Amino acid sequence: MTERKIQVRDVKKHFPVDDGALSNLFGFGEDQSVKAVDGVSFDIDEGEAFGIAGESGCGKTTLAETILQLEEPTDGEITIDGRDVTEMDKGEINALRSDVQIIQQDPYQSLNPRFTVVQWVQEPLDIHDIGPKDERRETVRETLAEVGLRPPENYMDEYTSELSGGERQRVGIARAIVSNPSFVVCDEPVSMLDVSIRASILRLLDDLRTEKGISFMYISHDLSLLKHVCDRIGIMYLGRFVETGPSTQVINDPQHPYTQALVSSTPIINPDVERDRIELSGEVPDPIDLPSGCRFAPRCPEASEECREGEPRMYDVAADQRSRCILHDDQYDLSS
Ligand SMILES: Nc1ncnc2c1ncn2[C@@H]1O[C@H](COP(=O)(O)OP(=O)(O)OP(=O)(O)O)[C@@H](O)[C@H]1O
Ligand code: SF4
Ligand SMILES: [Mg+2]
Repeated sequence: MTERKIQVRDVKKHFPVDDGALSNLFGFGEDQSVKAVDGVSFDIDEGEAFGIAGESGCGKTTLAETILQLEEPTDGEITIDGRDVTEMDKGEINALRSDVQIIQQDPYQSLNPRFTVVQWVQEPLDIHDIGPKDERRETVRETLAEVGLRPPENYMDEYTSELSGGERQRVGIARAIVSNPSFVVCDEPVSMLDVSIRASILRLLDDLRTEKGISFMYISHDLSLLKHVCDRIGIMYLGRFVETGPSTQVINDPQHPYTQALVSSTPIINPDVERDRIELSGEVPDPIDLPSGCRFAPRCPEASEECREGEPRMYDVAADQRSRCILHDDQYDLSS
């Protein structure tokens, strides 16, 4: 049996910047690119939920799209169920599309309003020719029941535009799981939904993970959401992970100064721990012109001259927890 596991190794996605003749004239055009994802590695086991957090523009969506082959990686290896997807030809990538799915943030934009529910959910089965044609409507009916749209008969022939936000997101989830995928990415799956229905959608996703063994990747700004639904988490800053580990551990006891600042700005996350709010000064630097040394140095309250000399490696800081900060180095003089 093939291993249902996602392996991401040193993946990069750089977008070339076409800034016209000026840069070519001055000879610095060639190095210009947006380093949206700049060397990311992690694994997701079968049935595991991995979370990605970080400020807007740090590369979360680009990382997901690169893993799903919606963007071609600049570098690195991505293995899904034992197959290296970066080596696949067009036909193989098309076949992969039924095995990896994405649930989008906005249930109003991501569903085609001209489709009925059955047409929208059945489309992946038709595109990938999955299952006998005369059984597909029944497969859709069962899937709608699975995602909590009951009785499914009441929804099948409704237009998606007639549904509420929560119902639409359930239809989006039904479409994502109807082809029995092994890997589902949820990019801010509930941020556009009414607060009152967020918990039920998250519970549904979690049930699907445990019942079907689907591996999940959650992307969110909301650390308390990630703590709740994810086994492990990666904190991203300017295209790289600065901290990874079990989600409860990283959020309860963050080791990297950036994670500490993120956690401190979400006080309800752990009401038992008193934490002073750490204000981050400055803006996120430009991903075209990265700072030298530690990428977080221009905003880090702990930064010293040494931090600007070279980019720190990841250090093991606790069981399965790693942090990219020079302060963890035994050789580093804490008084400097
Ligand atoms: N097609 C593209 N061409 C050029 N730059 C891009 C492209 N797509 C994304 N970027 C840039 O890459 C960086 C990462 O963008 P990305 O959308 O992945 O961030 P994000 O973490 O998902 O942000 P958000 O939380 O706002 O969704 C940004 O600087 C963005 O402007
Ligand atoms: S290496 Fe220095 S600048 Fe970077 S996070 Fe650690 S202390 Fe801050
Ligand atoms: Mg995004």
